[in-house]
Amino acid sequence: MVFGCAEPHELYPDWKRDFGRDAPLELEIGPGRGGVALDHAARHPEIDLVVIEARRSDCELIRARALKRGLRNLMVLHGDARLLLPRLFPPRSLAGLHVQFPDPWWKRRHHKRRLVDVDFALQARRLLAPGATVDFRTDVAAYAREGEQTWVQAGFERLPDEPPEVLSTRERRYAVTGQPVFRTRFRNPPADIRPIQSERTGREWRDVRRK
Ligand SMILES: C[S@@+](CC[C@H](N)C(=O)[O-])C[C@H]1O[C@@H](n2cnc3c(N)ncnc32)[C@H](O)[C@@H]1O
Repeated sequence: MVFGCAEPHELYPDWKRDFGRDAPLELEIGPGRGGVALDHAARHPEIDLVVIEARRSDCELIRARALKRGLRNLMVLHGDARLLLPRLFPPRSLAGLHVQFPDPWWKRRHHKRRLVDVDFALQARRLLAPGATVDFRTDVAAYAREGEQTWVQAGFERLPDEPPEVLSTRERRYAVTGQPVFRTRFRNPPADIRPIQSERTGREWRDVRRK
């Protein structure tokens, strides 16, 4: 690479240097108050976990809790994952992706902000290594249904259901109130599985707004 002439997407952070070791790298987008991030990192000291959260106060909260628990394998980044993703991870560098309860963005004019759409799923396929997994959870039935189609359209394979190892912050609340949660897991297959061509964006879904 010639310094000064690289495209922005060629300049990635050096995660091995920043974590101080060479370990499988996982990503969580929108961790909120960090229910999954903190417990997953603690239960899996063999992986390094990067989380990207748009809300600064949540980033600070997770950082403080990680520090208190002595977690050295968790890095918290503040920002919009949709903008940061292509700048942060080289192709096939991720061993896992966690997306739990992405905002539904109910208003029609906000649908374009929905995280999981066909472009996002295709980008995830590029960034995840073959065999890497996606853990997708939502409380919105239409997001679950259309989201599954979106992951599959991008070429991911649905994995059998399994009880979650750790619950997200929101999920812990639902475990008490009994509100339904839709959980799906997917696997990035070998690279020769082609995405399915379609006009759908994965953002067209409507649902009854939750109270
Ligand atoms: C409904 S909350 C769910 C939080 C957590 N995953 C849970 O289950 O408790 C959605 C979270 O995603 C964050 N978020 C939404 N869009 C984002 C984006 N583009 N990049 C990073 N974080 C985002 C929000 O700030 C919020 O914390």
